[in-house]
Amino acid sequence: MNNYAPRIVQYQGSKRKLAPQILSYMPKSFKRLIEPFSGMAAISIAVALEQRTKQFIINDINKPLIIMLEEAIEYPDRLLHDYLILWKEQFTYKNHVQHFYDVREKFNKGFKTPANMLYLIARCVKGSVRYGKNGNLNQSPDKRRHGTQPNTLQKNIYNISYLLKGKTKFYSYDYKRIFEIAEYGDVVYMDPPYQGVTNVRDNRYVSGVEFDEFSEALKTLNKNKIDYLISYDGICGSKKYGKSLPKDLECQKVFLNAGISTQSTLLGKSDITYESLYISKYLIKEHKISTIIQQRPLIGSG
Ligand SMILES: C[S@@+](CC[C@H](N)C(=O)[O-])C[C@H]1O[C@@H](n2cnc3c(N)ncnc32)[C@H](O)[C@@H]1O
Repeated sequence: MNNYAPRIVQYQGSKRKLAPQILSYMPKSFKRLIEPFSGMAAISIAVALEQRTKQFIINDINKPLIIMLEEAIEYPDRLLHDYLILWKEQFTYKNHVQHFYDVREKFNKGFKTPANMLYLIARCVKGSVRYGKNGNLNQSPDKRRHGTQPNTLQKNIYNISYLLKGKTKFYSYDYKRIFEIAEYGDVVYMDPPYQGVTNVRDNRYVSGVEFDEFSEALKTLNKNKIDYLISYDGICGSKKYGKSLPKDLECQKVFLNAGISTQSTLLGKSDITYESLYISKYLIKEHKISTIIQQRPLIGSG
């Protein structure tokens, strides 16, 4: 048991564990929460649990992922039923790993059903969904696992559906289109993909987020006085990863303790990862958010 908000399944880059720290920089209540890079929507789930708003906008460029999230929230029974069939099917195979490849092939041929998407995420290595240049999902299965147990999944999906059903709008656009929807009084939480690994412009589902374009787009949020928070760069040991966002955005940057990284543990070290969180200037000013509590790690400027 842990005290984290429920999740559907593991998803690479999920902010579930950091959610309490991130939420400590958000207003106590606001009009709508907008997540332009929702992934598995960990922050929306955590905000719903604390009842800070009753309206959510969940967007991700990965359309099958968004369709799956919508199904989980609006029609949980149907998704659980279809997942159970798939999950059981793997045990009818001599080699259960082959079942993953068969579902992946179907998915890549166009059967991007919510259950297929969910099963593939639940079974792939570290819940990391990767697509090749041709737009095909090419991640491998975790050979030691069978994917989330249907009973566990049922409990989590019912909880999440209870929190977000009837309160959420789902979109699958590039983030810039979602910025156009944002209005004064909303809070926009952004968690773009890690810099450097996603600049695959010709990819259908993971378009990547170009630094200058993103910085420029953020200026429109400033102009419209929209409150926002962004998880962006970070520090681990003596290494800094990712570029800092431009100073002229006038955001306040704090560092969140993300714990000891898996890679560090593998190397027998105990380096703590600090992830940055940029907080828009209007958010700090209007809601009197204190940023003093987060000490700045010794290295890493900006
Ligand atoms: C680091 S993950 C977000 C994880 C999320 N915070 C969570 O807790 O699950 C980044 C997400 O951005 C999405 N993405 C990548 N490029 C995008 C774009 N141009 N517009 C919208 N979403 C995008 C990816 O599909 C991915 O799900």
